[in-house]
Amino acid sequence: MDQLSLFQLALIVVLCLGACTGHAALFVVSLNWWYSLPIHRSLLSLLKQLHVLAALAGPALFWLAFGLRLDNALLFSSPGLWHTVLAGYLYICLAVGLIVFPSVTLWRLVRRRPAALLSNHTRMVDVAERLGYRPIGRGKHRLMARLPGNQVFRVDFAERTFCLPQLPPAWDGLSILHLSDLHLCGTPDLVFYQQVMGLCRDWEPDLVAITGDIVDSDMHHRWIVPALGRLRWKEAAFAGLGSHDSWHEPMLVRRRLRRLQIRVLGNSWAEIKVRGERLAVIGHEGPWFLPEPDLSGCPQGVFRLCLSHTPDHIRWAQQHGIDLMLAGHNHGGQIRFPLIGSVFVPSRYSRRYDCGSFHEPPTLLHVSRGLAGKEPVRYNCRPEVTKIVLRRRAL
Ligand SMILES: [Fe+2]
Repeated sequence: MDQLSLFQLALIVVLCLGACTGHAALFVVSLNWWYSLPIHRSLLSLLKQLHVLAALAGPALFWLAFGLRLDNALLFSSPGLWHTVLAGYLYICLAVGLIVFPSVTLWRLVRRRPAALLSNHTRMVDVAERLGYRPIGRGKHRLMARLPGNQVFRVDFAERTFCLPQLPPAWDGLSILHLSDLHLCGTPDLVFYQQVMGLCRDWEPDLVAITGDIVDSDMHHRWIVPALGRLRWKEAAFAGLGSHDSWHEPMLVRRRLRRLQIRVLGNSWAEIKVRGERLAVIGHEGPWFLPEPDLSGCPQGVFRLCLSHTPDHIRWAQQHGIDLMLAGHNHGGQIRFPLIGSVFVPSRYSRRYDCGSFHEPPTLLHVSRGLAGKEPVRYNCRPEVTKIVLRRRAL
């Protein structure tokens, strides 16, 4: 094979990889966007199947139209309208696959953690090891929990310290236990949650914040009290509901939480005193529960803590002067690939706010990877509970 042929071969390989990557990325972004909307779960399931089919059909379509000679397709040399349209789409896929996707991935790899994050210490606890068996339970997707290497029972207990200069002096060192996405549905078993909540007690948090997706079945509301009943706090506990709660008798979820003295704000706000200082706590359960919170009467100049199931409300939070927003919903993607990271993230921003902390002034956003998920599958993305410690300045 002469040098020109080798060049052509290399070009064809790059074009094929780029086109397939770009096509898949476009459909993943589309699916992520659909999953950020308040639509019925059966429609979401149908959309997921259609997107998977379309993602697989793309390479086949390119193959049927152009064979392997994608380089010829780029010249629009093929006859007919459909070939021309397909060649145009091929250009878009190549731009996404060879430029946009690698650039975004590289940016995600090299981006710095926000300066407001002073420290991040994580201790992993293997709950299955503690119990001496895997608490798989009897959930619908329990077989998935048995997959080799599945990290579903390996919980990260993360302690993150944030610097917020606007904090009242009395709150220096204030701690918040952030829990999200318990997805009570049979797998993991109740004992898993009881173990985790028992360990969270050792943190002795001032506040507890739960950011939704507490149940994921019509049968497991009865687990709320025995699971979360183990929690303790010094000042107050708050919770907001999420997308999966909205599908499973949300009033029942709210009632059970209130039985535990956990305040459920819905789409509203409340003012409390913490260490003698005023704190405005805002719940945002949109878009699954509407209307979104009205902050017209919420006092100005008071620290604003927002519990939002989805981090997609980050722009809303910035516009409403939220100091600290806690969110979940995205589960960190649940499966994170080497170098690439998360792929499926049910957000209008796709994987931008998949997990971690983001400082978008005036708002500091913390997105939990959550404790579980409807499908009990996690790779390179362990479940997480977080103790957030607030400081006025770096020590
Ligand atoms: Fe969730």
